[in-house]
Amino acid sequence: MEQVVETNTSRAPQAPPLPGTPVDFCLRYARAYWMPFAVMVIFEAGQASCSILLPYAIKQIMDTVDRAGRIGQDVWSSVDSPLWLFGLLNLGIVIFSRSSGAILVILGPALRRRIRRELFAYLQHHSQRYFLSNFAGSLATRIAEVSLSVAQIMWTVLFDFWPLIISFSVSLVLLFGVNVNLGAALGAWIAIYVVVSYVLAQRCRHYARNYAAARSLVSGKIVDSVTNIMNAKLFARRDFERTYLDGYLNMEVKRARETFWYMERIRWFQFLSAMVLMIGIIGFALKIWSEGRMSVGEFAMAASLSLLLIEQARGLSRRFLEFFEYVGNVHDGVGMIVRPHDVIDDDGATALEVRAGEIEFKHVDFSYVQGKPVFKDLNILIRSREKIGLVGFSGSGKSTILNLILRLFEPQAGSVLIDGHDVQTVSQESLRSAIAMIPQDPMLFHRTLMENIRYGRLDATDDEVIDAAQKAHAHEFILDAEHGYDSLVGERGVKLSGGQRQRIALARAVLKEASILLLDEATSSLDSVTEKHIQDSLAYLMENKTVLVIAHRLSTLANLDRILVFHDGTIVEDGNHAELLELRGHYAKLWSMQAGGFLPDVEEASSDFDILEHEEAHQ
Ligand SMILES: Nc1ncnc2c1ncn2[C@@H]1O[C@H](COP(=O)(O)OP(=O)(O)OP(=O)(O)O)[C@@H](O)[C@H]1O
Ligand SMILES: [Mg+2]
Repeated sequence: MEQVVETNTSRAPQAPPLPGTPVDFCLRYARAYWMPFAVMVIFEAGQASCSILLPYAIKQIMDTVDRAGRIGQDVWSSVDSPLWLFGLLNLGIVIFSRSSGAILVILGPALRRRIRRELFAYLQHHSQRYFLSNFAGSLATRIAEVSLSVAQIMWTVLFDFWPLIISFSVSLVLLFGVNVNLGAALGAWIAIYVVVSYVLAQRCRHYARNYAAARSLVSGKIVDSVTNIMNAKLFARRDFERTYLDGYLNMEVKRARETFWYMERIRWFQFLSAMVLMIGIIGFALKIWSEGRMSVGEFAMAASLSLLLIEQARGLSRRFLEFFEYVGNVHDGVGMIVRPHDVIDDDGATALEVRAGEIEFKHVDFSYVQGKPVFKDLNILIRSREKIGLVGFSGSGKSTILNLILRLFEPQAGSVLIDGHDVQTVSQESLRSAIAMIPQDPMLFHRTLMENIRYGRLDATDDEVIDAAQKAHAHEFILDAEHGYDSLVGERGVKLSGGQRQRIALARAVLKEASILLLDEATSSLDSVTEKHIQDSLAYLMENKTVLVIAHRLSTLANLDRILVFHDGTIVEDGNHAELLELRGHYAKLWSMQAGGFLPDVEEASSDFDILEHEEAHQ
């Protein structure tokens, strides 16, 4: 228990140190690229200042023209410097904005790459348990979403909020310069506008979330319906499926309308505020002008400033709303991925070097789910180079033994030792490099067959790969495939039959030179003829290794050194084939029942065991 608490707060030392809160997470990347960000902050400030100073240049021009007209001077010669200012400001807008754009082109993709790479690297260190409870698809989506959202948060701050702050400040300074009351009026308007926009956006979030949830529910339903299109056809349920979908579509329409109505209310607010600002400033300015306290240029400046501000501030609520969405995405994604790793290497983890290949379970207690123990005080000793068979009903814990040896899961008590080293004290990489495993249901990458087999040893030559495929009796069907060794196998290997996938997994294991070999029903999907052929290769593969073989087909185990019979998480019989037959216990009964076939299913199984035990009691 103590151990669980300790590991729950940890991160694998090789994983990038990602922060778990959205703000810190964004700050990490802002810091990583602080230089370009700082330059962009300056450029954006430059661009915003140039834009909002245009009305000031217009004021200068108009005042000069006005004065020149009144004193009868030549307009062109006196308007010279205000015109220069006007021209330079326009040029400034172009240069600042495009320079900032150029940095964005370089920085944007690099930022997203870095976020994805680090999230993926972090994800790689999660345990088997984690991946069993989080779907691959949603994890991949989260990584994409987080990287996009972090970038969007940065851009919203940099290209929306920051320039707006500059525009508001410069306008305030300009208008205060003209008239204190005018400045104060604008200040009040800005304060009210920003606060109300923020509050409205906050309120709208609720609707936007409901709408997003409805959209994803509907697309989920459509995906499910398309996946099950065969069912709809077989049961002639086309109309039913459409009606079923209609219910969800109508719900989405309802949610959409709620959201859009709310956004419409926000727009009412924005349009009315724009109107108030425009009429208010012009009215106010007219009044001051009529009192002779303002020049014609200042009047023009006030009018065009309010036009520009209205233009820039128009979408503020929407931008707040989007900003919240992005922050929400980062929060969810980071919450899902940046969790403590639960199986991590010790600080002083050493590399495991397997010499003898002795495996020992010492007083192991293990459960996947609390309160449902799979093993209690399990003790097994597998000697160096021994070939062991594991037999037991489905669900009796055979695969779990392999999971514990590979440290895909950790025991709650006791330890698993390889050559005397606790697997929890050695590095996971070295542990798993020392073990070749063919799992019950091997998965393949959606890559070529050549790449899939070479995964066993990345530096294997083509000839070595082909040799391994021949040993696994995969060569023939690979040559029959459309593109031979270059054929793609479909997602998870779906384009291959179960037996073909097993043979690819076998070829992979042949390539991997490991001293311990674990076979979990490695030949279960093969027909008896192919399996017979493979036995020779298997025998070759097993030479000089410690081997654990799980099989329901007992004939596969007959030649092994020892067979362990599992029942309810304990070993009930232990010995070689002949000895176990001699015992006339469970194994002998199973053997005679099987007659070359398979173990019965679980349901019958428990009752069979009951019968066996019953019979024993009577003997
Ligand atoms: N990831 C998991 N989470 C929770 N329970 C699990 C998990 N994996 C296995 N179990 C449970 O642990 C028990 C042992 O499972 P295990 O896979 O070791 O059985 P097995 O002997 O390999 O069976 P089979 O012959 O069907 O492969 C079963 O009751 C199973 O339901
Ligand atoms: Mg199993």
